[in-house]
Amino acid sequence: MSLDDAAQKPHDRLAAALAEDMEAVNLMIRQRMASEHAPRIPQVTAHLIEAGGKRLRPMLVLAAARLLGYAGPFHVHLAATVEFIHTATLLHDDVVDESERRRGRPTANLLWDNKSSVLVGDYLFARAFQLMVEPANLRVLDILANASATIAEGEVLQLTAAQDLATTEEIYLKVVRGKTAALFSAATESGAEIAGATPEQVAALFTYGDALGIAFQIVDDLLDYGGSAAAIGKNTGDDFRERKLTLPVIKAVAKADAEERAFWVRVIEKGQQTDGDLKQAMALMAKHGAMDAARDEALAWATKAQQALEVLPDHPLRGMLSDLAAYVVARIN
Ligand code: IPE
Ligand code: IPE
Ligand code: MG
Ligand code: MG
Repeated sequence: MSLDDAAQKPHDRLAAALAEDMEAVNLMIRQRMASEHAPRIPQVTAHLIEAGGKRLRPMLVLAAARLLGYAGPFHVHLAATVEFIHTATLLHDDVVDESERRRGRPTANLLWDNKSSVLVGDYLFARAFQLMVEPANLRVLDILANASATIAEGEVLQLTAAQDLATTEEIYLKVVRGKTAALFSAATESGAEIAGATPEQVAALFTYGDALGIAFQIVDDLLDYGGSAAAIGKNTGDDFRERKLTLPVIKAVAKADAEERAFWVRVIEKGQQTDGDLKQAMALMAKHGAMDAARDEALAWATKAQQALEVLPDHPLRGMLSDLAAYVVARIN
């Protein structure tokens, strides 16, 4: 590895190692997102897809397949499938969360309207299903179809857990596993499966994706309080406004005294928020070490992800996946 390589972020190193495959994936995405029959579709999809995004999930499919010696071509279909599923859920998620920024741009629901976001999201989901049958592999179909259902379950569970101060860390974990980790694990598991991996290898890559996805979402939730909007391409403070019980909030609520509890009841349960409340929430989380404790949990999940890779063949991509797990947590600092 040259010094240049070492200076790159793990995410960029993966992108460089998978550049040829990713080009094929991006081409397939562009071809399949078009619609001749409804011009609103390419307008909305191009707005979101051309903005980029990290393309983490397709890279996970490609890396898993290549690491296990797969020569192609269907890893490309699967990678495009997971990015379509991801993009569909983002369109829906920004409606549900009433978000105004995504990938450094105004959200589709803001630029067009909720109706367009919901329907174009449905269209992308349907396109994902068309793509996922093309490899004609029932196991892979099973993994991706299940993940699609699990993601929706996670989002709905979160909907009913929001504004409820009784939400436990256990419920939070269920939400996160569903809405985020399910697609990460489906990406790595389907990549392994298409490569004809052994059951042990498939299980290892599932565990890696699951743990990586959980770490990723815990960090995403921390960045919603402590991050910079410019760096994450989304507005911060959305979770507080939406009264979501994310991990640092759950931890701070658990340690609240009577006065602090009254604050949480007012802003989260009653939704009576005024200027300065977000700052106060952050101060309470800091006081109880809630951000640090959540970060430690993310770190533990990242370590679990790294350990899962140990049974896999020695390969440069294995090292990059391991570094990616560390980086996902390091991006808080
Ligand atoms: C956003 O995922 C949704 C979450 C699970 C937090 P990413 O942060 O991977 O989104 P893009 O694709 O890079 O925009
Ligand atoms: C994203 O959840 C998960 C899905 C899109 C299914 P969030 O609502 O926490 O993510 P951001 O912050 O909008 O990206
Ligand atoms: Mg959201
Ligand atoms: Mg959401």
